[in-house]
Amino acid sequence: MDFKLDETQEMVRETAYRLSRDVLEPRAAEIDRSHEFPEEQIRALAEAGLLGVNVPEEYGGSEAGVVSYSLAVMEIAAACAATSVTMAVTNMVAEIICAFGTEEMKKKHVPKLCSAEYPAGAFALSEPQAGSDAGSLKTRARKKDGRWVINGSKQWITSGNVAGVLVVWARTGGPGAAGVSAFLVEGGTPGLIADPPESKMGQRGSPTVGLTFEDCEVPEDALLGEEGKGFRIAMSALDGGRVGVASQAVGIARAALDASIAYSRDRQAFGSSIGSFQAIQWKLADMATQIEAARLLALQAALLKEKGRPFTTKASMAKLFASEMAVKACLDAVQIHGGYGYVDDFPVERYLRDVRTTTIYEGTSEIQRLVIARNLLSS
Ligand code: CAA
Repeated sequence: MDFKLDETQEMVRETAYRLSRDVLEPRAAEIDRSHEFPEEQIRALAEAGLLGVNVPEEYGGSEAGVVSYSLAVMEIAAACAATSVTMAVTNMVAEIICAFGTEEMKKKHVPKLCSAEYPAGAFALSEPQAGSDAGSLKTRARKKDGRWVINGSKQWITSGNVAGVLVVWARTGGPGAAGVSAFLVEGGTPGLIADPPESKMGQRGSPTVGLTFEDCEVPEDALLGEEGKGFRIAMSALDGGRVGVASQAVGIARAALDASIAYSRDRQAFGSSIGSFQAIQWKLADMATQIEAARLLALQAALLKEKGRPFTTKASMAKLFASEMAVKACLDAVQIHGGYGYVDDFPVERYLRDVRTTTIYEGTSEIQRLVIARNLLSS
């Protein structure tokens, strides 16, 4: 077993690190305050090849693999979580189209996702009454005169109001997962209506919207994969998405640790820096150890995906552990900063708000435990 990154992985990590330091970090607090979509930052990611990290070069991607992708998300998230979630979902949509789309779909949409000609991609699965229980979704697609007509509503859709293309799950058959199909819907299609963005606790530069489909017509060939097989597409895409969220949580936690180390060196109390007190040292040591464990879990899941091996359980373990760990690390970072941790002069309160959703989106911690336990009991 060799933990050394290869040349490509090191290069992608270094590229993402420099971009984070030079372009993202300086504007992250402002984006959080203004709730502004990070369009310029997304264009910079595209130029650096980070919107299609695991996408074949022939469709505009970097073809650098899943480990590189995970490393890149860690670096981007450490600087600006809002940019990292936009990046992650756009990569996810590009990968879904590459894995399940026709040649025409791939040629039409993937280069635009990778180059930021589309500001983002969106993954429209959740509904107001169907989040964890995704198989009970109610949005319906009916065939009429050789076209699909979609009606229903979606909830919590990252970039749903700015996406150039959305993967939309809708019911074409009976109840349950077997009745669900996936479609590609282009942004701006008549009948696709986005609500104003939600007012969120964190990741505020990333718009999260409800969507309404009112007789939204798409061509017959907008069906992605086979009719009735859409749920599997969603589940396998979410396996990869969970590697992304685990990586994001690791990145945010690392930023919280770095801020805490700097503050502990600087802050004086009782005649010395607070870093000389065991109470602070133990917190830092626990944070660093757990971040390292989460990082290895995320990279392990990424490597399994890259090698084409089963990785569902490992992705859920990585997401569960990394997100829960990162919330705790960010809470500790605020505690180390004392009163300064509770105001926005320091970044740790933003990290805490940003990281909180990582235990919720792309499957809650409870759903990850369900996936892990089902696998343990069935093997
Ligand atoms: N890969 C491929 N196929 C899979 C799969 C996987 N990981 N997991 C399940 N499937 C298949 C099953 O094999 C089954 O297919 P067959 O019937 O043909 O055998 C089908 O999918 C149904 O599977 P289940 O019976 O296990 O389905 P279920 O209804 O019991 O649900 C669940 C399982 C794990 C709870 C699932 O619903 C789930 O993951 N829920 C959470 C949803 C979620 O993560 N939502 C996040 C929203 S997206 C988001 O947050 C994105 C964003 O914008 C940031």
